[in-house]
Amino acid sequence: MQRFAATTFAQYKAQGKRIVMCTAYDVAQARIVQASGIDAILVGDSLGNTMLGYGTTLPVTMDDMVRATAAVTKGAPDTFIVADLPFMSYQASYTDGMYNAGRLMKEGGAGAVKLEGAFPLALDLVEGLTLAGVPVVGHLGLTPQSVNAFGGFKTQGKDALAAANLIIDAEALAAVGVVALVLECIPAELARAITARIDCATIGIGAGPDCDGEIQVFHDLCGVGGDFTPRHARHFAEGAEVLTAGLSDYVAAVREKTYPAEEQTTHVDSQVVADAQAHVEALLDGSLSPDALV
Ligand code: KIV
Repeated sequence: MQRFAATTFAQYKAQGKRIVMCTAYDVAQARIVQASGIDAILVGDSLGNTMLGYGTTLPVTMDDMVRATAAVTKGAPDTFIVADLPFMSYQASYTDGMYNAGRLMKEGGAGAVKLEGAFPLALDLVEGLTLAGVPVVGHLGLTPQSVNAFGGFKTQGKDALAAANLIIDAEALAAVGVVALVLECIPAELARAITARIDCATIGIGAGPDCDGEIQVFHDLCGVGGDFTPRHARHFAEGAEVLTAGLSDYVAAVREKTYPAEEQTTHVDSQVVADAQAHVEALLDGSLSPDALV
């Protein structure tokens, strides 16, 4: 089977084949995701929420993203990896954006980077990165890095003017070369219209069923995200229940001394331990020099 690459987004869109993505943030999650047959992984700055316990993605740093991306590329070496540029790693200057995208590729091993919005500097960056050989995924709608400007995590594009702005932004990003465009928390009708209007693949999250693909957060899919599950997410596994039950069994087994059992245990001749204790006693009473144990 041919490996998914940056160019595969457009091929799948042309073939009408749905693109399936989810996030991962560490080596263990990446292994599980790769084994599932998912097309591509996003190392999302949602790691601020899912892995670091912040209320927003704003505190996430470049070092957080580079470390997570490097771990995910190790766990899923055969999967296409997109990595997020975190808040203020590209908004302040073109040079910052180019440099930080380079870090995600060089130090993290990402195959593409993602940035939010279609403001003039973002469009310049998409163009510059694309010319430099860095595939870029765009992200519009409820872009979490702008949560303060939105006044909360609210569905975007609900009136005609806001919807028109999103269409204009999507077309602008497509024109400067994004390989795919994430549409987050917008009405399904608007997502369908954008998907029909642009050549690049749209990847929905809370954007209805008619995008070219779907992306969801690992923790929401696997039921390990705590009490809150966004309306657009579904638990495809009850991971927390399975893991809690397993760990409870571990607690009981240790208390009952049925674990570790023989198969988890290594032995030596009991004479080795008797001799070791004799050495320790000799050291303590001064009849053996510490040099003798080196
Ligand atoms: O950071 C993230 O996980 C994302 C997805 C929600 C698209 O950007």
